[in-house]
Amino acid sequence: MIKEILQKKQLNQDDIVRLLELADFSPVYKAADRTRAEHVGDVVHLRAIIEFSNVCKRQCRYCGISRENKSLPRFRMRREEILETAAQAVDAGYRTIVLQSGEDDYFTAERLGEIISDIKKLTNPPAVTISCGERSRADFVYFKEKGADRYLLKHETADAGLYDRLHPCGTLKERIDCLKTIQGFGYETGSGFMVGLPGQTLETIAADLLLLKEIPCQMAGIGPFIANPKTPLAGEKNGDPELTRRAVAIARLLLPEANLPLTTALSVLSQEENSHQGDGRQQDAGQTDENNGRQAVRSDTPAENPFSFGANVVMKKVTPDEYKAAYEIYPAEFKKTDIFADRRELEQLIKKFHRIPK
Ligand code: 5AD
Repeated sequence: MIKEILQKKQLNQDDIVRLLELADFSPVYKAADRTRAEHVGDVVHLRAIIEFSNVCKRQCRYCGISRENKSLPRFRMRREEILETAAQAVDAGYRTIVLQSGEDDYFTAERLGEIISDIKKLTNPPAVTISCGERSRADFVYFKEKGADRYLLKHETADAGLYDRLHPCGTLKERIDCLKTIQGFGYETGSGFMVGLPGQTLETIAADLLLLKEIPCQMAGIGPFIANPKTPLAGEKNGDPELTRRAVAIARLLLPEANLPLTTALSVLSQEENSHQGDGRQQDAGQTDENNGRQAVRSDTPAENPFSFGANVVMKKVTPDEYKAAYEIYPAEFKKTDIFADRRELEQLIKKFHRIPK
């Protein structure tokens, strides 16, 4: 049965549900890894992400920077600070800068446009990805004129009812229209969704995956939902890292050429998963073998090698320390940022997993 499904040209919703619920998913992981190797090779792209404002006018019920979270100190980075951070990231070797923020009206098209052109004027200018939520058609055109290359806007969930329950403002239709507009203006377009949202089913995840293909996306960020105690979803169960990896693997089968990041949320939960196994295995930088003299990890099971099930991108926060903790979408540990050292560490880690950092 699995073989038949994997050989199909087009997977439908039923096929995807059947794959997601398999007792032994390893044939699908292998197929995803083969697709990854054939279509995008062994390169892992490193992206530097600057979270430049945590001011947000939206009230997404899962998100820590929702405007409803009154206990969160709000910040906006200044234009010069953003440029300085981007310049350091480029010096450290990053070829893509991701500018991410809440939906903050202070950053008008003109203000954000200036920042994009600042970055594009650096020597050896990087690709610029914008991840600032839903904007007007005119804004998308303007950012493109100023040099933006890519736009990330996760659809979050493809279930319209669930979307409504989670988002007091905005509809799934508006979200999808926005993504199609972005795509139409020639951006490399990224969407994505969360796995394990309360009320989500395997059918929803299958619909999420098919939506990525329908848009169609060049990038897709798929991460587990992590309950944030400062949101109305405090106390809900976290998404399952294994189910999340399965979704990433199927995304690779559906979108062979796409850039699929290993989301930060997945690393957060996978680290917990591994530390619960009690063998000290960790996926975070600096925790692996070099420190204790063990051999590089040769096994390629997904829990051990985060690049063995389809992902080919890593996003690294380069947000200055003074702001990092206030960009708390979900609870995570914040290590001190050292843009250069962090990049070297990440490169080492990626090589240890037999991939080529770029
Ligand atoms: N758990 C996991 N991911 C979340 N995001 C927001 N809140 C959470 C949460 N509680 C993700 C959304 C959003 C991105 C910036 O972070 O997918 O698009």
